[in-house]
Amino acid sequence: MTGDHYFTAEPTTPARPREVEFSVAGRDYTLTSAGGVFSADRLDPGTAVLLRKADLPAADAAGPLLDIGCGFGPITCVLATVAPAATVWAVDVNERARALTTANAARVDAADRVHAVAPDDLPPDVTFAQIWSNPPIHVGKAELHDLLLRWLPRLTPDGVAWLVVARHLGGDSLHRWLVEQGWQVQRHASQKGYRVLRVTR
Ligand SMILES: C[S@@+](CC[C@H](N)C(=O)[O-])C[C@H]1O[C@@H](n2cnc3c(N)ncnc32)[C@H](O)[C@@H]1O
Repeated sequence: MTGDHYFTAEPTTPARPREVEFSVAGRDYTLTSAGGVFSADRLDPGTAVLLRKADLPAADAAGPLLDIGCGFGPITCVLATVAPAATVWAVDVNERARALTTANAARVDAADRVHAVAPDDLPPDVTFAQIWSNPPIHVGKAELHDLLLRWLPRLTPDGVAWLVVARHLGGDSLHRWLVEQGWQVQRHASQKGYRVLRVTR
């Protein structure tokens, strides 16, 4: 064991690649995961609630779409699959997560439309019709707030952000904080202790 967190930039935990299987909206996914990334052995239950309860993009959505904190890429791969014309940007500080997301994009035949990049490498002029995230709560409240203040303003005027946060990890206080920042926030769904928040301007 090492002291890696899942948000370590360059994990030293042995990769030991493995497969994660799940289904969303009637489609089956088999993605590659590895040690040193978030929820390496299964689709995270919060991510599962998000993908089950939020409104997935329409089949003709062009995007661009953004997945903040892509991990091994489950949200990115679902978005790219259900919206086969959309460009999907995936950001993560963890380089192994970015590499897995790139590999998994190829597994769902979306290699040409998925860009998994470090946050500073996302071109500054791209804006997003939708932002999706199971955000990193364990980085601490200040960093989480900075992350959201960095990316939410890049929604298009009629864009929508979908966030999932466990209630016991501060889902309701995050909801209140977003409202204080001037965002329209709707608790779209609540399941298994997770809040699915729909955020608009
Ligand atoms: C809760 S995990 C979700 C991972 C993946 N989306 C999933 O659903 O399995 C949050 C992710 O955010 C990443 N992360 C942490 N700080 C970040 C930051 N400042 N910018 C982008 N990603 C970050 C972590 O490395 C981690 O992969």
